[in-house]
Amino acid sequence: LGLFDLAGRHVVVSAGGTREALDPVRFLGNRSSGLQGYALARTAVARGARVTLVSANASLPDPAGAHVVPVGSAREMREAVLAAAEDADAVVMAAAVADFRPAEYVDSKIKKVPGGEPAPIRLVKNPDILAELGAGKRPDQVVVGFAAETDDVLANGREKLKRKGCDLLVVNEVGADLTFGRPDNAAVVLGADGSATDVPRGPKEDLADVVWDLVAARLGGHDRD
Ligand code: C5P
Repeated sequence: LGLFDLAGRHVVVSAGGTREALDPVRFLGNRSSGLQGYALARTAVARGARVTLVSANASLPDPAGAHVVPVGSAREMREAVLAAAEDADAVVMAAAVADFRPAEYVDSKIKKVPGGEPAPIRLVKNPDILAELGAGKRPDQVVVGFAAETDDVLANGREKLKRKGCDLLVVNEVGADLTFGRPDNAAVVLGADGSATDVPRGPKEDLADVVWDLVAARLGGHDRD
């Protein structure tokens, strides 16, 4: 494993959690801190890559040497990721992307009607960015997804890897404060080739380095242009 094994490569990392607006002051969001995605960006810079970090609502300092593209919603993230992915050697979707968004956005703050019932929130599906990347990827491109599972972690992970068409899927067990906002993580990285790499609990940088090891091995056969 060379120290600069990602030199000359362009990698795209998404991080954080998308926010889906209901009105100018409210949104549906999630608990992703962005720590894992930022660790991926930092380690990729350290290994010599040109890094585009598409960051959704993470309150973290910009990683030195990475190009940071801030986004808010899933649809904004899709635009930014697909644009950056065009010339990318690898794309790692570490962000928690909202599966659904409110069907309508109300231009002014939603008021409570005195004595009235709250209006229901109707949801519509967001685009699945990872599935789109998987379906559209060049043969020389490596696409990596993350999956947070609470049960049947491996079986669900295998199914998701296939459905999303990615090369690698990092499967985390979540719940009971296992991952979100913590500096450490534990995971199994599943490969489309049937491989499974166990990453014991440790700093999010350690998991990031394992991901880049696996990415670099898959890029190895392809010359950069
Ligand atoms: O289906 P699920 O949300 O568990 O998939 C998680 C993976 O898919 C993550 O890599 C996440 O970044 C990505 N994703 C996406 N677009 C969505 C939902 C998830 O790219 N709308």
